[in-house]
Amino acid sequence: MAKRTKGHVDKAADVLAIFGISGDLAKKMTFRALYRMQKAGALDCPIVGVALDDWDDEALRRHAREAVAATVSDPDSDALDAMLARLTYVQGDYGDDATFERVKAALGDAKQPVFYLEIPPSLFATVVQGLGKAGLVDRAHVVIEKPFGHDLESARALNDELREVLEEAQILRIDHYLGKEPVLDITYLRFANSILEPVWNRNYISHVQMTIAEDFGVDDRGRFYDAVGAMRDVIQNHALQVLGLIGMEPPSGNDPDSVRDQKLDFFRAMRAADPKRYVRGQYDGFLAVEDVDPKSTTETFAALELQVDNWRWSGVPFFIRAGKCLPQKTSEVTAVFRRPPLLGIGHGKTPEPNQCTFRIEPAPGSRMRMFQKKAAVDAFEPADLEVLFEHEPGSDPEPYERLLGDALNGVHTLFTRQDAIEETWRVVQPLLDHPGRVHPYEPGTWGPDQANDLVKGVTHWSEPWLPNS
Ligand code: BG6
Repeated sequence: MAKRTKGHVDKAADVLAIFGISGDLAKKMTFRALYRMQKAGALDCPIVGVALDDWDDEALRRHAREAVAATVSDPDSDALDAMLARLTYVQGDYGDDATFERVKAALGDAKQPVFYLEIPPSLFATVVQGLGKAGLVDRAHVVIEKPFGHDLESARALNDELREVLEEAQILRIDHYLGKEPVLDITYLRFANSILEPVWNRNYISHVQMTIAEDFGVDDRGRFYDAVGAMRDVIQNHALQVLGLIGMEPPSGNDPDSVRDQKLDFFRAMRAADPKRYVRGQYDGFLAVEDVDPKSTTETFAALELQVDNWRWSGVPFFIRAGKCLPQKTSEVTAVFRRPPLLGIGHGKTPEPNQCTFRIEPAPGSRMRMFQKKAAVDAFEPADLEVLFEHEPGSDPEPYERLLGDALNGVHTLFTRQDAIEETWRVVQPLLDHPGRVHPYEPGTWGPDQANDLVKGVTHWSEPWLPNS
């Protein structure tokens, strides 16, 4: 038998059971992902859908067909039919033992199931206990979606409940950012190029800045978002996970825990965030969104500074800003190098600092900003070295496709571990405890002016690097 390494299973799953198959996430993301996996030849097990709705197999297949039609342009009918043929349905209430007996019957002889819980986190424990009682978890893996708690204490409490039934290695926590191809590219670019390593530290880098901007509002997610806000929605998880890849030490082994261990170490070195270095904003119009409390002080924009106390990063601020209703949809992270000294060239001006940008979207890629002489005059001008990551548009696996495939194949590298989840909550906890006031901003701007004050004296927020800019 193959040697079992931490974080790996030795055999692929033989069934996928999805709880909450009738919900919104399945409709928008999961059926599309399953269809794409089928088309790519990456799906070869039956799929059991579970929900409360009074459906049967045919109703589920009809629903899945419609969901694919709504999310995939011109689907291949053979691949779609093959994916639909894998689906069967189990109806039931998650609080009822009989539901899990029916799930057991539907799993048949399967020995190594993956249970994907696309259900509210408040139901995770109920379902996991139901699976446990029915004797279904011995060789199972359970995939869950954020939010993993709403602060450090609740994240621990949630985990304790799950751990009553499951081992840590059986819990696969999805942060879909980690399934994005350009996020994986960061690790490759950093560690496959030996010219970067000598300069990737406090001796050469003055600060790092990250932007996760969306040019739309909260739309129909008022109830969810009002309880969460930008800090919990994208910063504690997506932003910090990406910064983990930017800041970690090189992974030393080839096992699935190597990268996760290095990221954990980086998070451990991060100081708990300082509420004085935190700015919250709320776009004008948020209070009128359906299901948002008209007196809500939830932030739809957040900007903050983080410090990392280790040899590589001590004294290098990591700035993050994220928000809704900003001017563009863009997600990028830039390491800004130290400014060169005044030179005997460039007409008495100091050149701007070099920058290395990783763009996650739009148009994933990386850019090294150098400076050259402007033609015919004694002045500097930017000279950009650009690498675009996408080879053939649409061909890269999408996040859910990659992560579901990994879950089924027992590859656990890209799932977040509880220790990292707790560290990231620890880092942001002071900001949750002392959020400060929320400043209004106009939709279509880069948040409140206070976000500019946050970086004053060190830098200014860079204009995002956009395709053809
Ligand atoms: C989700 C957040 O986790 O990430 C959303 O809940 C956000 O509010 C989304 O819009 C951003 O991810 P992506 O992949 O759509 O850029």
